[in-house]
Amino acid sequence: MNESVASPVSVSIDTPQLIMRLLNESDAPMILELLNEPAFITHIGDKGVRDLNGALNYINSGPLKMQKELGFSLYCCQLKSNNEAIGISGLIKRDGVEYPEVGFGFLARYCGQGFGYQSSKAVMEHAKQQLGITRLQAICNPDNTASIALLTKLAFQYTGNIVLPGQTKRVKLFDNLN
Ligand SMILES: CC(C)(COP(=O)(O)OP(=O)(O)OC[C@H]1O[C@@H](n2cnc3c(N)ncnc32)[C@H](O)[C@@H]1OP(=O)(O)O)[C@@H](O)C(=O)NCCC(=O)NCCS
Repeated sequence: MNESVASPVSVSIDTPQLIMRLLNESDAPMILELLNEPAFITHIGDKGVRDLNGALNYINSGPLKMQKELGFSLYCCQLKSNNEAIGISGLIKRDGVEYPEVGFGFLARYCGQGFGYQSSKAVMEHAKQQLGITRLQAICNPDNTASIALLTKLAFQYTGNIVLPGQTKRVKLFDNLN
C-alpha cells in the first residue's frame, strides 16, 4: 500500500455496541470485502474496487474527502467487544438529492443484528445535535427490502421516486423531518 489516509479531525459516536469513527488505513480490508459483497454490488453499485490500494483510494477520495469538505461522512462501525470493523454508516451529500442522506452498509455476516438501526439512530442524533442538520433524506433501490425496513424503523417516509444524475434507474427517496 503506498497511499496514506489523512485524518484531519476526529469523530467518535458511541452506540450500545459500536464506536463510530472516521475511516482510516486499517479499514481497507473491511472496505474491500464490503464493496465486493453481492448485496452491496446489487443494491448500491460496483465501485470497481478490487484490491487494498483501491480500497484506500475509495476511503481517501470518498468519505475522507467529504469529511474535509462538508464536516460529515460515512463512518467506520467498530464493534466495542473486539474492535472489529463491521461496516459503514453515516451521512452523505450527493448531486441530485437536496439534503444530506443517511447511508449504511454492513458486512453480510453482521446484517440483521440491529447494527443498521443503532448506528443510524446515533448518526441522526449527531447530525441534529452536533451539526445542526434538521432535515435528512435517504435513497435506496426499490427492491432493497432490508434498507426500506430500516428506513421505516428510523421514521423516514417514502416521498417518491427519483433518477440520480447520470443514472437511468429510479430509486426511492425518503425524508425525515424529525
Ligand atoms: C440495509 C442494511 C444496512 C440494514 O442494516 P441491518 O443491520 O441489517 O438492519 P437492522 O438489523 O438494524 O434491522 C432494522 C430493521 O430492518 C429489518 N430488516 C433488516 N433486514 C431485513 C431484511 N433482509 N428483510 C426485511 N426486513 C429486514 C429488521 O427486521 C429491523 O426491523 P424490526 O426491528 O422491526 O424487526 C444491511 O442489510 C446492509 O448492509 N445491506 C447491504 C448494503 C445495503 O443494501 N445498503 C443500503 C443501501 S441504500
